[in-house]
Amino acid sequence: MVTANNLTDKDIVLVTGAAGFIGSNFVKLLLAERNCRVLVMDALTYAGNPANLEPFRSDPRFAFYPGKIEDPTVVNGILRWEKVTGLVNFAAESHNDRSMLDPTSLIATNTTGVANLLEASRRFGVKKIVHVSTDEVYGEKATGLFVETDPLAPRQPYSAAKAGGDLQATAHAISFSAPVSITRGSNTFGPNQYPEKILPFFITRAMQDKKLPLYGDGSQVRDWIFVEDHCRGVLAALENGLPGEAYNIGGGNERTNIEVTRKILGHLNKPESLIKPIIDPRGKGHDFRYALDSTKAVGIGFKPRADFDNAIKETVNWYVNNESWWRPIVESNEYQVFVKRYYGPALGDDL
Ligand code: NAD
Ligand code: TYD
Repeated sequence: MVTANNLTDKDIVLVTGAAGFIGSNFVKLLLAERNCRVLVMDALTYAGNPANLEPFRSDPRFAFYPGKIEDPTVVNGILRWEKVTGLVNFAAESHNDRSMLDPTSLIATNTTGVANLLEASRRFGVKKIVHVSTDEVYGEKATGLFVETDPLAPRQPYSAAKAGGDLQATAHAISFSAPVSITRGSNTFGPNQYPEKILPFFITRAMQDKKLPLYGDGSQVRDWIFVEDHCRGVLAALENGLPGEAYNIGGGNERTNIEVTRKILGHLNKPESLIKPIIDPRGKGHDFRYALDSTKAVGIGFKPRADFDNAIKETVNWYVNNESWWRPIVESNEYQVFVKRYYGPALGDDL
């Protein structure tokens, strides 16, 4: 039985990392379905895009603060000044492939930043915190589904740094009775995703008739969730999650990478000859399969709504209709340097 603890106009929610993909979709959901004040704090890294926040700027309930979550001065200042009652942390260096190139840089955001947000929340009496994490902290699972009591066993620099954040949250819940819940979402897709993760990377490359670098034979499995459903799971945790508890937020859509790739090509009416299998750049740390049991989150009101095939089609159409959103990104120097550095050796002339 889920108690209704919906946010009200008395609530002031700080959403960190919301210039990115999932966070901006979460702000959209909050402003559409709740009457609270919504503040965004974001460092505007390469993945943070002010255009994602543009639709909210005319809403009097919305405000934006630039800053890093690991910076106590900025975080304390916002919490004190705005009298924040709820905090949702999406801020992260979120890309596995980049973490392979630069494994130390992401600890400041993914681990230290989380501890800083928790400490500031304690100081200023924030009533509820959600730390948004990932299924990748569990490591890989050959068969069956991850449950929240499974040990954290990350196998890549990204997931190890994220697990550091989860452990900080749990420790603060135990040591200081911090009112923090953790969500562990599965692979997410939808509008406004920076074109480095497989779906938007392959969609935008296929639209340009460029080769799609598939790691190995593409038999790896991910449990896909549409971004709006992921956001609904995070909202359920914000409103109904218990302190110190983690909640898996999975879509229940297990697909191999090759299946997903073929689906994209089908929707774009592009040939399968665009697929180029490459030697797996992630090496031994590449998790073969993730899959989540989300029963516990269903118990606090999480109910995924999207049909996978329709949602993929909707996502492909969004990129087709929003070239003005992704074109400046893929043409930026930052993006091209990354793609060249990471994929250059395998793609060569097909870059
Ligand atoms: P994203 O990379 O699109 O966005 C991350 C945002 O965080 C960007 O706006 C960036 O500017 C901001 N940021 C980075 N470092 C910061 C810092 N130090 N201080 C303040 N802001 C900072 O990521 P996303 O895909 O939207 O993921 C959001 C969260 O959800 C992450 O915590 C990620 O681990 C988690 N998650 C993502 C997925 C997925 O498939 N994308 C799945 C499960 C969980
Ligand atoms: P990704 O979207 O980066 O998410 P994650 O690493 O968090 O699961 O990758 C999803 C899967 O797609 C993963 O098994 C790696 C694979 N992949 C490719 O085969 N080629 C690519 O160019 C990318 C970005 C990913």
